[in-house]
Amino acid sequence: MGPVCFAQPQTKTSTSFQQSSSLRNASQTFDGVKFSKSRRKPMSDPLFQDVIRKRRSVRKFEPGRSVDRKVLERIVDCGRWAPSGANVQCFDFIVVDDPILRDKVMEVFLRQAQRLVDHAKGFPAVKKTYLANTVAIVIVLGDPRWKVCFPQPTTEGWEKEYLENNEVIYQNSIGAAIQNIQLGVAAENLTSAWLSGGGEDITNKELSDLLGYPDWMKAYGTIPIGYPAATQNRRYRRPLEQALHWNGFQPTQYRTHEQVDFYESSLRPFAMYRDEETMETWSDRQEKLGDWETAFTTGTPNPNGQLENSADFSAPRTTGRATKRRLKD
Ligand SMILES: Cc1cc2nc3c(=O)[nH]c(=O)nc-3n(C[C@H](O)[C@H](O)[C@H](O)COP(=O)(O)O)c2cc1C
Repeated sequence: MGPVCFAQPQTKTSTSFQQSSSLRNASQTFDGVKFSKSRRKPMSDPLFQDVIRKRRSVRKFEPGRSVDRKVLERIVDCGRWAPSGANVQCFDFIVVDDPILRDKVMEVFLRQAQRLVDHAKGFPAVKKTYLANTVAIVIVLGDPRWKVCFPQPTTEGWEKEYLENNEVIYQNSIGAAIQNIQLGVAAENLTSAWLSGGGEDITNKELSDLLGYPDWMKAYGTIPIGYPAATQNRRYRRPLEQALHWNGFQPTQYRTHEQVDFYESSLRPFAMYRDEETMETWSDRQEKLGDWETAFTTGTPNPNGQLENSADFSAPRTTGRATKRRLKD
């Protein structure tokens, strides 16, 4: 069995599963790893819950720090253990821990951020100079050839049914690897972010020239890793009773087209960057939410239960404050 994806150093005979006090009296084995009988019952693992909640997108790191390569290996190993369609493992991981190369990666992302400001006006982006303070940057590459291993249409007219979903399987597999890496980072008491800009054509070309991978592979995820310089323990999450539907979709929990418009045009920067789990604790919630308070803080964003027909959301439908400001420039 390969190394187990966990925070502590591993050896073949001493995994942190085995070190865990709740498992010391293990009596069952699975694939060489012992489990206590009590593990057969569903029960919440506080360590796991802690790691899940600790995984925050932090974009401010302590300068001048470094980390052992063994830590980085354990983190990337978490990505290797991610699920993937047909187990194709359509990802590769480039770890940049050389400070000179890291700064060149940062330069690529500074140009990427400037393109966002110039050509994707209104998106609340953060300056990417913080990449200079990372201990490493992990680039998760997607290898599209492996899509051929997903279900292929063999009958005429079934391309849409299968090929579109192949793309979804491919992207989701890469997303799972990125997520696992971010969780691995959190389990090491480090912090990270998830940058998607490497997937943009110009940025990917610059990264492939710099890092030497074929330009038909794509840097779908870039994960800056560092020691957190800012405490960001919380982040807005919809109330559970709004997101969780028991035994079928509940129309009163549906978020209306107008709520999407409002989030996009007005609420987004605050929901993205404020260190608060619920908007109820915002001291300026009246000003920020206005009539939308119930929609964003309760389990019933749509009390009348009316659903809507699909609408064109391929572009923002209203102009918010940030967009207006940038359009003036
Ligand atoms: C697919 C995906 C793409 C993202 N792209 C970026 C990005 O380019 N830059 C960035 O700073 N954060 C990015 N994020 C992070 C989100 O902004 C962040 O996850 C969200 O605001 C919630 O915050 P949290 O991660 O702290 O819970 C991305 C997240 C995901 C899942």
